[in-house]
Amino acid sequence: MLYAAILAGGSGTRIGGPLPKQFMDIGGVPVLLRTVRRFVPCPFDGIYIACNADWLELAEQQLSPLADDSRLHIIPGGSDRTGSLLRVLCAIEQERSGKPADEALLLSGSTLASGGDIIATHDAARPFVSVRCINESIEAAACGCAGAAIPSADTILCSEDGDTITAIPRRTTLFRAQTPQTFVIGEYLRHLAAASEEQRRAFTDVCGVFTAAGAQVRIVPGDDCNLKITTPLDIELANCIATAQDKAAL
Ligand code: CTP
Repeated sequence: MLYAAILAGGSGTRIGGPLPKQFMDIGGVPVLLRTVRRFVPCPFDGIYIACNADWLELAEQQLSPLADDSRLHIIPGGSDRTGSLLRVLCAIEQERSGKPADEALLLSGSTLASGGDIIATHDAARPFVSVRCINESIEAAACGCAGAAIPSADTILCSEDGDTITAIPRRTTLFRAQTPQTFVIGEYLRHLAAASEEQRRAFTDVCGVFTAAGAQVRIVPGDDCNLKITTPLDIELANCIATAQDKAAL
């Protein structure tokens, strides 16, 4: 089976304001609705949206234009991004087995741990992901794991102390990670089960789990427009992209 996990459980502290960024309007359309609409034309069997429990009602309201799509499931997220992904996996496991599922079961005896199911994870705060990128990431995930990324336009400096430069990696070897990150769920759970507690705490994304295990992760070409809305300036940029893309779609 093929699933999508739209991660919308964040609080958007860097932008501030009363509403987490995934619920803000960009060009008159909520960010979350824009994001989920990009996944609807793709061949997913289930599309799970993980939201902070306090915002579930608003998420349902904002996604009401898609209410007829029975693949959509809105569920409570976790305390961090990985926690929200694990909540989605538990919800899928529960739906399939008809029995309650928690993280311990996921890692040991779940149907997901032993199967070849694939899931595409995506930041709800990236509303301009292309359908092309989602579909390419699904194809590339057959090897185990694939992540969208774009070449770094900037030279990146390494500094251990934040004061002096310790290394300047060759720019051609550097990419900026985006989402979707798409992967075989069973392989992810096996790598996670084999990782130490310290490693697990350090993982911020799925590609990190696969690379730490020595597994191959394919790069899928991302897109400059596929920005993650993070700062107030990103809201301005997102409004410009929305205006251009909405006009082109007419
Ligand atoms: N996310 C999530 N569950 C969490 C935290 C984050 O699903 N507990 C999601 C966010 O909603 C977002 C993506 O992961 O779509 C990337 O999160 P990021 O922008 O790094 O964090 P936020 O909490 O949204 O923002 P900030 O760091 O500024 O507070």
